[in-house]
Parts: sequence; structure tokens; C-alpha cells
Amino acid sequence: MNGLLLDEAPAQTVGEACSLDHYLVQPDESMDARIRAARETLGAEAVVLGHHYQRDEVIRYADFTGDSYKLAKAAAESNARTMVFCGVRFMAETADILARPWQQVILPDLNAGCSMADMAEIGQVEDCWESLERQGTVNSQQGTATNGQGILPLTYINSAAEIKAFCGERGGLVCTSSNARAAFEWAFRRAGKVLFLPDQHLGRNTAYALGIALGEMVVWDPYQINGGVTPERLRAARVVLWKGHCSVHQRFLPEHVDRVRREEPGMQVIVHPECRWEVCQKADALGSTERIIELIEQAPQGSSFAVGTEIHLVNRLAERFRPLGKRVITLDESGCLCTTMYRISPQHLAWALENLIDRRVVNRIQVEDKVKHWARVALDRMMEIKR
Ligand code: 13P
Ligand code: SF4
Repeated sequence: MNGLLLDEAPAQTVGEACSLDHYLVQPDESMDARIRAARETLGAEAVVLGHHYQRDEVIRYADFTGDSYKLAKAAAESNARTMVFCGVRFMAETADILARPWQQVILPDLNAGCSMADMAEIGQVEDCWESLERQGTVNSQQGTATNGQGILPLTYINSAAEIKAFCGERGGLVCTSSNARAAFEWAFRRAGKVLFLPDQHLGRNTAYALGIALGEMVVWDPYQINGGVTPERLRAARVVLWKGHCSVHQRFLPEHVDRVRREEPGMQVIVHPECRWEVCQKADALGSTERIIELIEQAPQGSSFAVGTEIHLVNRLAERFRPLGKRVITLDESGCLCTTMYRISPQHLAWALENLIDRRVVNRIQVEDKVKHWARVALDRMMEIKR
């Protein structure tokens, strides 16, 4: 493979970038040869990371594919100078937090955000914490002592870097859908309560699987005074769930599982734990995107699955496993699309890579140093827990 020499590699954002508009008017197919050529020129200097929800026209160029945990690990271990993240902003931010100082992270379209991550703003979370402190829920020694009292903040990786830093600074940590259980166990070894941000569904599903009753969980609504939770309920609660959700996974309903049970006897239902509790209770298995893939891979020929997660992954699994005698369908026939992931197009990828060859770094994601420090602490705690 060709490649730029290290000392001639792109360093910082310089000059005017080739206009994205020139790329966006080109057909998808015309990007193929350009992306391949750019990758060849960049060689080991640049690595492309792709989340499982990316569309086919983009994921085919990824050096590494995975769920959020696997991609965070790939970013932490990468030796490439530039990581081009085909995913959403919180993933690119995570890569930047875990990167070494000489590395840089690019998100090909800055509009690729995550609506769930946007549901917890740092100001709201600080207000919530203050309210918890006023009500005596926060241990005064939080962050230094681990005496089984008070509350620890735990955030899903699908959150802004500031939220991760907030958790790190207060003795808490980050989790993904693949290690949420271990993260809850970690937190409960140190505190009596957990504040889980920002996905109420993942928090509820995980805590319930650990034996915590629904009545021991409260939902904190940042748009209500004191989260809309009475002091009595807060005192009795073991888990405070932030009122956030994934708009893609929340669309799966218990009725969808009932329909599969009725119309497709023998079919297994696998859903992502970002789905509602009622849906997860009816499913045969829950798992992160990587786990969903593994479960289907490991199943014998003749198995069939209704999968409750983003439609690009489900369609790809259907195609991949059809020749192997396994049937995969979507749990909701209307197909749930993550519109923000979808924003990354082959044109955006070609634009980012070709600019990199010309020593221009477009759409660099850079987390502020003071945020980075505590966010890194929270991510390191996650990396250290046993899954
Ligand atoms: P995982 O790939 O970690 O399961 O996460 C799914 C998701 O919704 C990413 O935003
Ligand atoms: Fe965010 Fe949901 Fe899209 Fe994942 S699928 S990036 S949680 S909006």
C-alpha cells in the first residue's frame, strides 16, 4: 500500500478546504474509485472507523466496524495519525478523548449527531445534581470515598463529552450497551444509588435485570421542578433515570413482538436494550449491535430472527445470512432509520479523505482539554471493568 510519509502527513487544519458542494452533486457510484484511491494514497496514516448503522455505501470502506465499545477500543489502540469516524459525534468525541496527542479525529459530516445524547445538556445535569445535593442524596465525600452511601453518576457513551467529564469528576463512569450491567455493578459496589444518563430505557432494562424493581426507579424529567420526583420517592429510589431515549429504538412496540409471535412461530426476537422495557421483556434476547450479530452468527442453519434495531444493520444481516440459511427480518415493518448516522455519505467521506491528502483537515472533532481530562477518567474506568 502507498502512504504519506509521517513527516509529510497532514498536521493541523490549514487553508481552504475543497468545497463540499462539488462532491454532494456527484452520484454515489462516482465516489467509489476516488475513495479507494484516497485510501491507497493515505495508507496507514488514516484509519476509517464505521459503526454498524452506517449505510452500505459507507461501511464498505471501514477498516474497523463495531458497536460503540469495540470502536472506542479500536480508537484507543489505533496507531493511525488520523481517524475518520463514520458514526455520530459522541463516537468521534470519544475517539478524540482516547487518542494520543499526535492523533486527530474527523467526523465527515458535523450534522451527524445523536438525538439521545442531545437530551442531556450539561447545565440540566448540573441542576439535577444540585437538587440531589439539596435533598441530601449526594454523599459529601462523593468522588473520593466509596462507602456504599450516596449516589454515583453513570452515563451511557451516547452523551456529550461534558457529561462524561461530569461523571468522571464525581467518581462515576461511562458504559456502553455491551457493559452496562458491569458498570451498574461497579457503581453499586461504591454507592447506594445510581443516576443514569441519558437513556432511561437502557438504564431501566439493565437495573431490572440486576433485580432492581421498577418501583425502586424514578424518572428525572429535566423540564420539571426537582425532576418531577417527590423527596419521598427519591429517598426510596435506587436508580434515578434521566428522561432521555433513542427515537429510533423507542419506535419498537410490544405489539410488534406480539405480531411476530402470532405470524412467525419459531422466530426469535432480538432487540437492542435501548428499546422500551415492555419490548425487552417480551424479547428472547437483548444485545448491543455487536452482540446481535454474534447471536445470529452462532445460531444454527434454519434459524430465523426478528431484530429490533436500526434498519441498515438489519437489512445487511438479512442479506449476509440468507445464503447461510438463516432468515432475518426487522421487528417493525416500517423500518427504523437513524437519520443522523445516515448523514455520512460517500461524498462526505471522499471529501474528508481527499482534503487530507492535500494536507487539509476538515471537520476535526476536538474536545477541550479541561473536559478531556475527566471524560478520560470516566472512560478509563469503563475500559477497566470486566464485561
Ligand atoms: P451499540 O452499537 O453500542 O450497540 O449502540 C447502538 C447505538 O444506538 C449507537 O448509537
Ligand atoms: Fe443516537 Fe439512537 Fe441514532 Fe444511536 S440509533 S445514534 S442512540 S439516535
